[in-house]
Amino acid sequence: MSDELKQRKQTAVYVYEAPLRLWHWVTVFSIVTLCVTGYFIGSPLPSQPGEAIDNYLMGYIRFAHFTAGYILAIGFIGRIYWAFVGNSHARELFLPPFFSRKWWKEIGHELRWYLFLEKTPRKYIGHNPLAQLAMFFFFVLGNTFMILTGFALYGEGLGAGSWADQWFGWIIPMMGQSQDVHTWHHLGMWYLITFVMIHVYVAIREDIMSRQSLISTMVGGWRMFKDDRPD
Ligand code: HEM
Ligand code: HEM
Repeated sequence: MSDELKQRKQTAVYVYEAPLRLWHWVTVFSIVTLCVTGYFIGSPLPSQPGEAIDNYLMGYIRFAHFTAGYILAIGFIGRIYWAFVGNSHARELFLPPFFSRKWWKEIGHELRWYLFLEKTPRKYIGHNPLAQLAMFFFFVLGNTFMILTGFALYGEGLGAGSWADQWFGWIIPMMGQSQDVHTWHHLGMWYLITFVMIHVYVAIREDIMSRQSLISTMVGGWRMFKDDRPD
């Protein structure tokens, strides 16, 4: 348990501020939309009868994808801004302490705990070290990659010389050609889905098995500790 908690002798600490929580759930909503619509862009439904323009099904699917893409990207810029102006827990996502020996040791403990090899879960005010590591590599890097490749493809659709083409068009030749970007963007979806499956599983598992609140913390902001043993 952190020294901060020991000193305060508190059983509840305000951790995630409102903008961060709102961003989390807006991001959840947009990523789910992006995965469903992206899947259908990659594997379209069998053709509908009649002229495509008359039912416009793929048009609506792509429109939903691009709208959710904008929401994801603007939200992520807002989240980066919040890392500067929010509390210290708002920075954890972006700055894992890679050079701290203690942090790596605690990752080992968390791994054993997740594998049912440790009996006592540790207490953390912010993210536990393993969560922080996973969130950085899967989410921060994965999400950045999806936004960059997504807007590169979007620039192709908007046309040469459009703002998205000017800002992100260079990514396409860098990665080969358009189909390569499509394939990597598609693979990136499965990378993020892997994260989400593990993330939701451990959030529910920790809520039940660890000695602190998890899901309600991402709703109301407060981390509640379920006992007052010091560690
Ligand atoms: C698309 C789905 C999801 C994504 C991409 C996602 C992403 C994230 C990210 C990036 C964070 C770190 C927040 C930060 O430091 O700013 C986080 C935290 C958290 N998420 Fe999610 N999340 C998803 C779905 C969910 C769901 C469905 C739940 C609830 C069951 C959930 C529960 C939590 C909790 C409890 C935390 C805080 C964990 C802690 O305090 O260490 N997430 N999530
Ligand atoms: C979590 C984030 C995202 C996921 C999971 C996702 C998923 C996908 C998938 C699976 C495809 C189909 C690729 C293929 O097989 O050809 C796709 C296409 C595409 N995505 Fe995304 N995407 C994401 C973010 C974005 C963003 C931020 C944008 C920017 C607006 C974007 C724009 C596009 C475009 C333009 C296409 C190609 C549409 C077409 O060829 O008709 N995506 N996306």
